[in-house]
Amino acid sequence: MSITQKKRAKIIADAYRNWGAEGKKALDVGCGNGVVSDVLVAELGLNLCGTDIIDYRTTNIPFKQMENPAELPFDDLSFDFVMFNDVLHHSEHIESLILEGKRVGHALLMFEDKQSFLLTIVDVVLNHIYSSRMPVPLNFKTREEWCLLFDKLGLEWEVGEVSYPFWYPFQHFAFRLVKRI
Ligand SMILES: C[S@@+](CC[C@H](N)C(=O)[O-])C[C@H]1O[C@@H](n2cnc3c(N)ncnc32)[C@H](O)[C@@H]1O
Repeated sequence: MSITQKKRAKIIADAYRNWGAEGKKALDVGCGNGVVSDVLVAELGLNLCGTDIIDYRTTNIPFKQMENPAELPFDDLSFDFVMFNDVLHHSEHIESLILEGKRVGHALLMFEDKQSFLLTIVDVVLNHIYSSRMPVPLNFKTREEWCLLFDKLGLEWEVGEVSYPFWYPFQHFAFRLVKRI
């Protein structure tokens, strides 16, 4: 299973590389087992810290547990950027998490699933295997819905390029978000 996670992590790294993510101080919100975080450190040389509402890490990444699903336990502007990698559709606190990301980071990088029938099934089954405690509310949004939300939360967005191998069955959005001045 971690083979598919590692492949997805490389797709994420390639999307983020275009935004000059290399060597930066980054927070990985909803880092999960940390497999993707680990690959992002190797690929982009990040100084990374993970956080999540559940600690089910299988890797040794630095980590701080969230006590509240709508709050990030970090000071203002602690990170160059805050990442949400396939996390927000798992949360009932999407707006609060984005606002928290805006508070603790200078920018936000987001990699989020585009809904499809296959994805919905795989998401429920695989994530239950990774951690039976993981919430799977499947709060997917279209690109237009995400952009409306960013606008409401005072963020400007840039849409990234995501490149896949020919056999890869899922599609994603990549966004870079900065505070509107
Ligand atoms: C599909 S997993 C993604 C894990 C990892 N980011 C990856 O790409 O492999 C979704 C993660 O979001 C986390 N999550 C759900 N609600 C959250 C919240 N309110 N705050 C932070 N993480 C949350 C879950 O615990 C889970 O680890």
